[in-house]
Amino acid sequence: MLNIKFTERSTTRFSSINWDKLGFGKYFADYMFVAKYNNGEWNEGEIIPYGPYEIEPSMMTLHYGQTIFEGLKAYNNFSGGANLFRPIMNARRLNRSAKTLVIPDFPEDKFVQVVKELTYYNREFIPKKKGESLYFRPVLYGSSNILGVQPSDEYTLIVFCSPVASYYEEGLNPVKIKVEENHARTVRGGLGSAKTAANYAASLLAAKEAKQQGFAQVLWLDGVDLSNIDEVGAMNILFVIDGNIITPTLESGTILNGVTRDSVLKIAEWLGISTKEKTISINEIIESLENGTMTEAFGAGTAATISPVGSFYYKNKEFVLNNNQIGEVSQKMYDTLLGMQYGEIKDEFGWIEHISF
Ligand SMILES: Cc1ncc(COP(=O)(O)O)c(C=O)c1O
Repeated sequence: MLNIKFTERSTTRFSSINWDKLGFGKYFADYMFVAKYNNGEWNEGEIIPYGPYEIEPSMMTLHYGQTIFEGLKAYNNFSGGANLFRPIMNARRLNRSAKTLVIPDFPEDKFVQVVKELTYYNREFIPKKKGESLYFRPVLYGSSNILGVQPSDEYTLIVFCSPVASYYEEGLNPVKIKVEENHARTVRGGLGSAKTAANYAASLLAAKEAKQQGFAQVLWLDGVDLSNIDEVGAMNILFVIDGNIITPTLESGTILNGVTRDSVLKIAEWLGISTKEKTISINEIIESLENGTMTEAFGAGTAATISPVGSFYYKNKEFVLNNNQIGEVSQKMYDTLLGMQYGEIKDEFGWIEHISF
C-alpha cells in the first residue's frame, strides 16, 4: 500500500495537542505531502514532517490568488482502522476548481493514494470520539516567483492534516443564520463553484458583521439581484418543505458542489424522502416559513457535517424553525451519514474507503 517516498521525523507533535479541546484547525498532525509541478509535469512528491515552509515575497499566489483547496476527513472506524468518505469526489472537485483557476490537473488516483498514505502515517492523530476526525487540507497554488497578472508556470500541492472536533461551537445544536442582504460572495460567471480563496475572502466582512450581531453564519443570496438562495459560508443549504427536501441547483455555477450535499440527496432518496434541486427564491423561503410548510432546514458540509438551522433572520425579522430544536429529517441524516463514516452502519453506497492498521 505504501509507495510514496517517506521521511520520518525525530519527534512527534502528539503531546502538544489538547485532545479534550480540539476545536477546529488548531492542531496539525506529524506528516504532510508535498509535490511540485515544473516544466509541464508533476514530480512524484513526498511525505515529510509537517512544519514551516519557506516562500519568496514574489510568490504569485500571495498577490493574485491563484490557489484552490479541498477538505475531507478520516474517521475512526469503531471496529478498527479508519474510514475515508468518498475521497475520489474531492479529487475530482480539485480538478474542476483547477480548470476554473487555470491550474494543471493533479492525477485523481494519486490524490486518493496520498490521502490513504497520510491517514496511515498520521494514524495516531485520528481522534477516537464520534463527531471528531482527522481533517485533510489539500492546497494547490501557483508558486512561481514573478510579478504580473498571469497564470503561474510552477505549482505546489501540499496536503496536511488536522485533528478536529465540530466546526461550529454549537455542534449539533441549531444555528442562527442571517440572510445576507448587502454583501455578495460570488456572481454568475464567477468563481463560486470553485473551492478557491477568493470566495472565502469575499465572505469575511459579512461573516464578521454577522458574528458581531450574534449569528453563526450568513446565508448568501445570488450576487446579481439578491433574490435567490445560494449557500452558507462553509456548507450547502437544504430545506424540508411539505416533507420533501429542496436545495439550490448547481446550474447557476455560483455554489460549491458539496460532497455532503450530494450524499444527503442520495441518502434521502434511499430513505424514501423525495428531493428536488432547483432555483429557490428567498421569497419562497420566507413564505414557507410564514405559512409553516417549512419544518426544517440544515446545512451540509464535511467540516460542519449536518448543521440544523434554528432560525433565519431576514429584513429585521427572525423566523424560528421547529422551536429551535433539531428536526426529524436532520437527525436522520446526521445518524445515517455519521453512522456510515464511523463504521457503525452498513455503507449501502460503496462510499467508504477503509484503511486497515
Ligand atoms: C462554500 C462551501 N460550500 C459548501 C461546502 C460543503 O462541501 P463538502 O460537503 O464537499 O464539504 C463547503 C465546505 O467545504 C464550502 O466551503
